[in-house]
Amino acid sequence: MKVLVIGSGGREHALVWKLRQSPRVTKIYCAPGNGGIAEEAECVPADIKSLDSLLAVANQIQPDLTVVGPELPLMLGVVDEFNKRGWRTFGPTRAAAQLETSKSFAKEFLQRHHIPTAHYAICNSAEDVRSALPHFHAPIVVKADGLAGGKGVVIAHTKDEASMVANEMLSGKMLGEAGVRVVLEEFLEGDELSFLVVSDGERVAPLVAAQDHKRVGDGDTGPNTGGMGAYTTRTIVDDQMRDWLLHHVARPVVAGMKAEGAEYKGVLYCGLMMTARGPMVLEFNCRFGDPETQPILMRLESDLVEAIEASIDGRTSDGDFKWSDAAAVCVVVASGGYPGTFEAGKKIMGLEDAAKLDGVKVFHAGTTRRDGSFYTSGGRVLGVTARAPELETAVKQAYDATAKIGFEGMQYRKDIAARALKR
Ligand code: AMP
Ligand code: GLY
Repeated sequence: MKVLVIGSGGREHALVWKLRQSPRVTKIYCAPGNGGIAEEAECVPADIKSLDSLLAVANQIQPDLTVVGPELPLMLGVVDEFNKRGWRTFGPTRAAAQLETSKSFAKEFLQRHHIPTAHYAICNSAEDVRSALPHFHAPIVVKADGLAGGKGVVIAHTKDEASMVANEMLSGKMLGEAGVRVVLEEFLEGDELSFLVVSDGERVAPLVAAQDHKRVGDGDTGPNTGGMGAYTTRTIVDDQMRDWLLHHVARPVVAGMKAEGAEYKGVLYCGLMMTARGPMVLEFNCRFGDPETQPILMRLESDLVEAIEASIDGRTSDGDFKWSDAAAVCVVVASGGYPGTFEAGKKIMGLEDAAKLDGVKVFHAGTTRRDGSFYTSGGRVLGVTARAPELETAVKQAYDATAKIGFEGMQYRKDIAARALKR
């Protein structure tokens, strides 16, 4: 079977790594991929912002299965277009992907279906913001409605700041089209949890839960990023909580989407805040998380191709995934300056030594390969991931491996999974 993975980050490297372990996969392609992925798949140039480009790639390769990594092609309708041509593709349609691509759609959907989420107001104008603000207490979360690549959420500490940020977004100056509608939201406190399930449009099968670390700095300081590291353990969510989340969140979402005529197939990523009032939905993503996928797939012991085909064919079941009890940790290594401006093209040293350590896999997120060496090419550069029976050992292995790696300006958080270790 020929498999095509769309995307170029750490998540896609982990998908390629796992998919090619399937005895059914004879050839794997990645469009466009990156330097590290090129060691394990044939990388094909592609522009993920262009459906024409992706259609041309698939036309040329004729894959038996396509797995879509990032949200952008899903928003453009890559699954709709591929399905029309009879190409088997894993992911939601454009209409179903609205759960991620429009925060106002997601909030109204959650409310219609009585799924727990923060109080909110949808604002289309400065006038809407003025009349909504009296109903909130600071801090207030201001969110751009559309996709903003992790830059669309601002936690405002005063009402004045919330008003300023919301109006800046609405003007289109801050985030363009993505911000011409905003959602004001009640600020929630608690631990964040990434709870992912695979759905066939009707049934759901859970993946093991993970925790991301969104802020750039240790102790959750500094600006939000795409994610600076993640971990998963057998105890991060107990069976009772997993069943609660399936019953009160994942299944009602899938049933609600079906009832509304936008069947949800693919990965549904539920971003949750575990508050004193119980778990609440912060956001949905219509795809695998990055970096959560890296440690999650290190714990997967069954065939990912089988689970994906079950979703496409409408026969998802609990037994689709077999998990190791081990813990897995991913430390994201980023370019200096990220999530702001950074310089690319720095030579990366020590990758071979890092990979030699027990249970370690270095996933590439933003690298290129030239004359046998790797160079940085993105904000997030690597996802140094380790698996071990206990979390403490996995953390140690991931950091020992990270310490072997070096490039000019390299930065990473030193406290991935630290809170879990303290408990
Ligand atoms: P989102 O893209 O909606 O997940 O928001 C990005 C990040 O902002 C989340 O992962 C949280 O860390 C934070 N965030 C979003 N909504 C809230 C909220 N209502 N209360 C507190 N933090 C939030
Ligand atoms: N790690 C957060 C995301 O994938 O959106």
